[in-house]
Amino acid sequence: MINIFNFNDIISIKDLKREDIDFIIDEALKLEKIAASEEKSDILDGKILGMMFFEPSTRTKLSFETAMKRLGGECIGFENSITSSVSKGESIADTAKMFEAYCDGLVIRHEMEGVSKFISDIVNVPVINAGDGASQHPTQTLLDLYTIKKEFKDINNLKIALIGDLKYGRTVHSLAYALGLYNTEMYFVSPKELQMPDEILHDLEKNKIKFHKKEDLKEIVDKVDVLYVTRIQKERFGDEEEYQKIKGAYKIDKNLIEGKDLIVMHPLPRIDEIDADIDNTKYNKYFEQAFNAVPVRMAILKNLIK
Ligand code: CP
Repeated sequence: MINIFNFNDIISIKDLKREDIDFIIDEALKLEKIAASEEKSDILDGKILGMMFFEPSTRTKLSFETAMKRLGGECIGFENSITSSVSKGESIADTAKMFEAYCDGLVIRHEMEGVSKFISDIVNVPVINAGDGASQHPTQTLLDLYTIKKEFKDINNLKIALIGDLKYGRTVHSLAYALGLYNTEMYFVSPKELQMPDEILHDLEKNKIKFHKKEDLKEIVDKVDVLYVTRIQKERFGDEEEYQKIKGAYKIDKNLIEGKDLIVMHPLPRIDEIDADIDNTKYNKYFEQAFNAVPVRMAILKNLIK
């Protein structure tokens, strides 16, 4: 495949076309052996990736670090503002300029929408959005699609349910846009209070993407190929009482899915949405999905860091 991937930054999945996504998936497939430590690579030898994490992370941070190191590069950074000079009052802009001075690329997670874009406008190294508030998580979407592609060989013609907190979940916001680039049919399953934002529904409608809004999980479980489950994003609720009312709205267990022809995905972390009794079944694709973060993020770094 010709290298058509010509981005300076990855901020929103909306910036990518279907051929860009297909290119990254294809690249990631070629990097699997290096991701699994079966082969070595030094293509990013001498390069340094900066990690600016203002919100907690396990998978995104560790898999970016693993991806960079597997390609021979190194990482520096912080995992909360307390251990950086932001806690002394330094601005995010000044902090980002320091990373620009020390690094060849920058990965940012922040609780506020638009921070990655803001930083990409003021630094001259590639910036990757690792989650900005409830808005976007584009690299998660790339690894989600990679997981689906590996499982089904083709993303087209699949029926996919996005379940849980569709209001605040950034992974489902990015994923809905990306699935809309393929010929898929989506089911948005959530409590009334946590429905997919109107802006996204409007964009999908404008592009004639097939989707259905549902509240009852049982209604759709026989119809879909993928259950993409998300946790209720407690940290984004203004009112703890509201969270308490909604938490535990959906639970995937053996009773619900046994005998069905589907897979279960989750960006993780999970709280109680997927019963542990699914973990050792053929339905569980969420741990493989978490591993897939490594080859996919390797593909991104390989093509972004010059
Ligand atoms: N999927 C995901 O973003 O996980 P972390 O919050 O642990 O990075």
